[in-house]
Amino acid sequence: MNIRPRINRWTAARRNLINGGTILSSLVQPHFVVAGEQIDEPIRGMPGIHQQSVDVLLKTVEEDASHGLKAVMLFGVVAHEHKDARASYAHDASSHLHQAIYALKKAHGDDLVVMTDVCLCTATEHGHCGLVHDREIINDASVNVLVNIALSHAKAGADYVCASDMMDGRIDSIRSAFEKNELTGSGILAYSVKYASSFYGPFRHAAQSSPGFGDRTTHQMDVRSGYEEAILEANLDESEGADIIMVKPGLPYLDVLRKVADSVVRPVAVYNVSGEYSMVMNAADDEASRQHMVVEVLTAFKRAGANVVVSYHAREAARKRWVN
Ligand code: PBG
Repeated sequence: MNIRPRINRWTAARRNLINGGTILSSLVQPHFVVAGEQIDEPIRGMPGIHQQSVDVLLKTVEEDASHGLKAVMLFGVVAHEHKDARASYAHDASSHLHQAIYALKKAHGDDLVVMTDVCLCTATEHGHCGLVHDREIINDASVNVLVNIALSHAKAGADYVCASDMMDGRIDSIRSAFEKNELTGSGILAYSVKYASSFYGPFRHAAQSSPGFGDRTTHQMDVRSGYEEAILEANLDESEGADIIMVKPGLPYLDVLRKVADSVVRPVAVYNVSGEYSMVMNAADDEASRQHMVVEVLTAFKRAGANVVVSYHAREAARKRWVN
């Protein structure tokens, strides 16, 4: 069985995230998790967003949840000494990222949707999203590592593993591995339509995941490509068993978001990425103008067909009641 419609119904928090209908209920807050204690380090270019150790993360999520923000997306920031050619640390069940999943699930249980990023780029020494052989990113061997990462996150309790790597066939492989391991309630959010965008810059500082050589154009989508390719990718991931289909970035691809939302039957997510966040934070003169910009942006995502909106603005919008 590769499609299990019950996954998106598994908890009240999942149902509310996907079907709540309001802007607040659709929001997912990204977090950058680092090893250590009492670390709360601002990130260059992303005012208000910090790298946090698990203890600080727990307090932040608790406060967010009290304002109705009930979904998180976790990125594990891997220290230099733990990076290697095979991204081993990304599926090390003792890592701080796995501790964060356990701790959040222990504290919030089914009241929080925990999503985790599944990619190799934060844990490889060369910063690429796959294994590299002769300076090329190889596909199928990379998928095997992605499966190990996804399994380790799901076993730690993640609601959704979020495959952001853009290797061919990874959703199929992750879904079969979940079936073999009887992880029948673990979801997969596929970054199906992900462009090789110039809007990821601040994120790569935050996640320490810049490629050491080359770029991501051999796996992420060409920014000039048309709707046919977007729909091909979305349909493939849907048929391979993705529970949520994502389009990324958001603002430059609202047209693509609309087309994809009209072309798939599974719920659709959009990622309002780091460069889009920085643009708004830089452009707004004061808090009132920022509020208007953020609400306008989030409204546009809903209008274009997003059920789920991953945004760094989520926290401020929820805590200040800009959206409900
Ligand atoms: C990992 C990943 C990236 C983002 C999310 N997951 C960076 C990339 O593909 O280089 C970008 C998110 C953002 O810019 O906010 N592959």
